[in-house]
Amino acid sequence: MIRDGRVAAVGAQAKVEALPEARAAERLAVQGRVILPGFVDSHTHLVHAASRAEEYELKIAGASYEEIARRGGGILNSVKKLRAATSEALKQRARAALRGFAAHGTTTIEAKSGYGLDVTSELKILGLHQELQREQPLEIVSTFLGAHVVPAEYRGTPDGPQRYVALLINRLIPEVADRKLAEFCDVFCDRGAFSRGQSEQVLEAAARHGLQPRIHAEQLTRTGATQLAVHLGAASCDHLEFVNQADMRALAKSKTVATLLPGCDFHLGLKRYAPARGLIDAGAIVALATDYNPGTSPTLSMPMVLSLACTQLRMTPAEGIVAATINAAYALRREKEVGSLEIGKLADIGVFKVEDYREIPYYFGVNKCWMTLKRGKIISHAVDADPAS
Ligand code: NIG
Ligand code: FE
Repeated sequence: MIRDGRVAAVGAQAKVEALPEARAAERLAVQGRVILPGFVDSHTHLVHAASRAEEYELKIAGASYEEIARRGGGILNSVKKLRAATSEALKQRARAALRGFAAHGTTTIEAKSGYGLDVTSELKILGLHQELQREQPLEIVSTFLGAHVVPAEYRGTPDGPQRYVALLINRLIPEVADRKLAEFCDVFCDRGAFSRGQSEQVLEAAARHGLQPRIHAEQLTRTGATQLAVHLGAASCDHLEFVNQADMRALAKSKTVATLLPGCDFHLGLKRYAPARGLIDAGAIVALATDYNPGTSPTLSMPMVLSLACTQLRMTPAEGIVAATINAAYALRREKEVGSLEIGKLADIGVFKVEDYREIPYYFGVNKCWMTLKRGKIISHAVDADPAS
């Protein structure tokens, strides 16, 4: 039972129906369907100008992510496109994506900046997060990712990267924090992006201004970013394809969530997925997210991520659902509000047209989400998304 957008009662049908308040309640018939807490997608790059489909054939032919970046593609390609785009065009694309997230059962997302990489464009993206939050039902948790890569205009001289780090620390982080444009600060700590030392400088400055750290860690190479995340008490460290045993032990002892993004390896055609079983068995808190972005993971489907988690990460469907709901909520430090259907929490719900929850990942690439509720209100309803069922 739902009251004022929150879960007021849960349990066996007969018990809930016997409550005096239930008599006057409006009834939503979902017989024969599976109800889950709405997915929490704790890692997305929501605002970007366009796809990078022009790089797809290069990837298929075997060019690596880093090679494509060296040839003028990659993140800087998206930066060029974003700087040239109007706010209205960016917003329209993000709005369509948000409807797509909702249609796949997602009710809360994290969104990172990081395709602007100059003061105006980064602030523009974060401002869009705020506007979109006001204008549509999904909750958007905003993260500042000014440290995505060093922008082109800072690459010409040896001290360029350090000057860009100084711009982040002295100018952007204070302004983002003052204007409350983000809650978290992220850094892409990897070869071709930021070193462990630079990442530490940025995240420590962010923490001094009240922005909580999170990190893109060990995606392409092992840099020690996981140890840094644990050391800084980061909310999450994400990717983790190249973690070692010591990293896994450190995560297991910490409250830093290990967020796995198998959509990236799938899209890039890489064979080395993060060691999910090792992390779970060691006792780390494992979350799953889409990493929705135009370069490594152009999907907004959490059900597809669950399929990849099962087949590639060897997680069970139940582990996958936990990772995509309550553990992801914890990665955003929202576990008291969302991520499970318990009395007092938000009535954020995904209804799936399946008889058994395991069918959600089992039917890969098929969206079985039939209805999505945010704060007790229907925000998405597929009349019949999948006529075969
Ligand atoms: O999470 N690794 C860095 N950032 C994104 C990719 C961004 C892009 O290629 O546009 C990621 O994989
Ligand atoms: Fe990412």
